[in-house]
Amino acid sequence: MNAADPGAGAAPAFAPGTAPAIEEARPEDVAELARIAAEALPGAFSADGFRDELARDDAHVWVVRRSGRVQGYLAARVLDDVVEVLSIAVVPAARRSGVGRALIAHAITAAPAGARLDLEVRAGDAGAQAFYGALGFVAVGRRPRYYRGGEDAVLMTREAAPADKAGALP
Ligand SMILES: CC(C)(COP(=O)(O)OP(=O)(O)OC[C@H]1O[C@@H](n2cnc3c(N)ncnc32)[C@H](O)[C@@H]1OP(=O)(O)O)[C@@H](O)C(=O)NCCC(=O)NCCS
Repeated sequence: MNAADPGAGAAPAFAPGTAPAIEEARPEDVAELARIAAEALPGAFSADGFRDELARDDAHVWVVRRSGRVQGYLAARVLDDVVEVLSIAVVPAARRSGVGRALIAHAITAAPAGARLDLEVRAGDAGAQAFYGALGFVAVGRRPRYYRGGEDAVLMTREAAPADKAGALP
């Protein structure tokens, strides 16, 4: 990794107390998104998968950038009463700096009034479950053998309560 390359090797530098800015992904981001997804998650979206999401009216792929490089993304479908969080990942060098929190907060602000956010997470992924739990999600069910290879999914949900519209999260 080149020391001047902020994509994976550098420490994140988001100003303390400020949330990273969120923007919609662009078609030219799909290769970078697919690389981040493939590194972070087994069976995650491919470049074609991201392209398909970007083409859908009900779908969003939100990103946080630093120095032009994507630091993390969240793919979601925004329906009438539910926001389905399909995939979220942050590059390893930017983890635990609030990127994931900012992406979830943004999904909450995009949710229709009274909606909830739903997602599935691997039953064995304690880190991701701790992340969602820290952001107010609770486990509400389980899908046996949901993932290829036979791992169960835990269903987690949280309300997009009006108090969160300003981006305040637990
Ligand atoms: C899960 C993931 C998206 C979190 O993103 P992130 O930017 O590192 O998360 P944040 O910095 O916003 O963390 C917010 C809070 O969540 C909790 N949290 C985050 N990651 C955690 C972990 N690995 N273990 C325990 N708690 C965690 C902490 O309470 C954290 O606050 P703190 O750092 O002040 O203690 C990131 O670790 C990732 O990309 N992992 C690989 C892909 C993945 O697991 N995706 C989800 C699959 S469903």
